[in-house]
Order: sequence, then structure tokens, then C-alpha cells
Amino acid sequence: MLTRLEGVLTPAQVTYCREVLDAAVWTDGKVTAGAQSARAKSNLQTPEGSAAARELGELILSALGRNGPFISAALPLRVFPPLFNRYDAGMGFGAHVDNAIRFGPDGARYRTDIACTLFLSDPDDYQGGELIIEGSFGPQSVKLPAGYMVVYPASSVHRVEAITAGSRWASFFWVQSMIQDDGQRALLHDLDRSIIEVRTALGDDEHAVVGLTSAYHNLLRMWAKV
Ligand code: NI
Repeated sequence: MLTRLEGVLTPAQVTYCREVLDAAVWTDGKVTAGAQSARAKSNLQTPEGSAAARELGELILSALGRNGPFISAALPLRVFPPLFNRYDAGMGFGAHVDNAIRFGPDGARYRTDIACTLFLSDPDDYQGGELIIEGSFGPQSVKLPAGYMVVYPASSVHRVEAITAGSRWASFFWVQSMIQDDGQRALLHDLDRSIIEVRTALGDDEHAVVGLTSAYHNLLRMWAKV
């Protein structure tokens, strides 16, 4: 399931991120790629654990912790410290799948259930650069306003189309979810959104609302690994 989240960062937060990244060190993005994806990858990244990445990563994690739609979609157990990349004209990232396991700066292992791209450039800032995600409904093309984020199964083959003009800046990271299975997680997300609609229409005390909420939590209890 692919979910678009609007306004994860405010315009002021995006501007601040851009200012910090403007002054940051950028290195070849192949350093975080696996053997296959390194051949397909051409971009720049801020080094993992750098001061800029740590500061902005905290800002993003703090925003995500207050973001109900993100929590509903991802059911996060833990979030990999955000990384930052940049594609200038001529750069791109061919078809690849992300590593299943990543090591955090503290050496902890993260299973990458969900991949996230948080856009820090507006679509008008560059040409090309669409994130193309392959899935059961065919390839999906994603190019969102700055501050918006896409969340998708990290098991998906995906690519970033070549940039033909301008520059595309983004944060990217992964979530280890309490629900490893994409189908189970999608079902819980659908159910949660429907419950919110029914609560809005009927009120919290309605018998059916209590029953559906109970079903949601009991499915979560059955499937979650925490
Ligand atoms: Ni990737």
C-alpha cells in the first residue's frame, strides 16, 4: 500500500531544513547502497550521523510522532534515523530494492518494512526526478510538494527518474513496523480510517463504534510484534 501524507513538515520547517542542508557536507550516495543498487545509484547524501543529519532527523522524528495519519499507516515500532539526499541535473537512481536489514548509527539492526521519502523540494524546482514505485496496480509515479511524504512497502522495486533540470532534495528513511506483513498493515489502516468516519458520523458511544474499535485493537494485539 502506498500512502501520501500532506504537510508532514510546515513550510517554515522545510525552509529551515533547506538552510541547514545548504551548509552541510554532501558525499557520493553509493556509501549507503548495497552491491546491486550502488551500480544504479547516482546522487549525493549527507553522511550518516553528521551534525546536520542528526539535527534535522530529530526534527522529522518529532513531527512524525505527532502525525496521526503516519502512525495509522505505518504502526511504527522504530524509525531509522532520517538520511538526506539530493539529485542534481543528470543524476538518478535505477530500479532497485532497499536492503532488508540496516544498521543504525548505534549498531542496532532495523528490519526495513516501510520506506519513506519526505520531499524537501517543490515539484516546480526540478524536472524529472519522479519516484516510480512498482506494485500490484502497476507503477506509481510520485512527485509531491515540499513537506509532503510518501510511505510504501520497502519490499517494492522502485527508482528515481533522471533529473533533467534543477535539483531534488529529500529525506529518506525506513520504518520497522509493529506489523511486518504489508497486507495485515494495510487492512488495519483501512479499518482505522473507516472507524474514524463512523465515529464522526455516529459518535463515540454508539455500540457499533465500540465493536469496531474493539476489533481493531484485538487484530493489532493478535498480529503486533513489539
Ligand atoms: Ni531505494
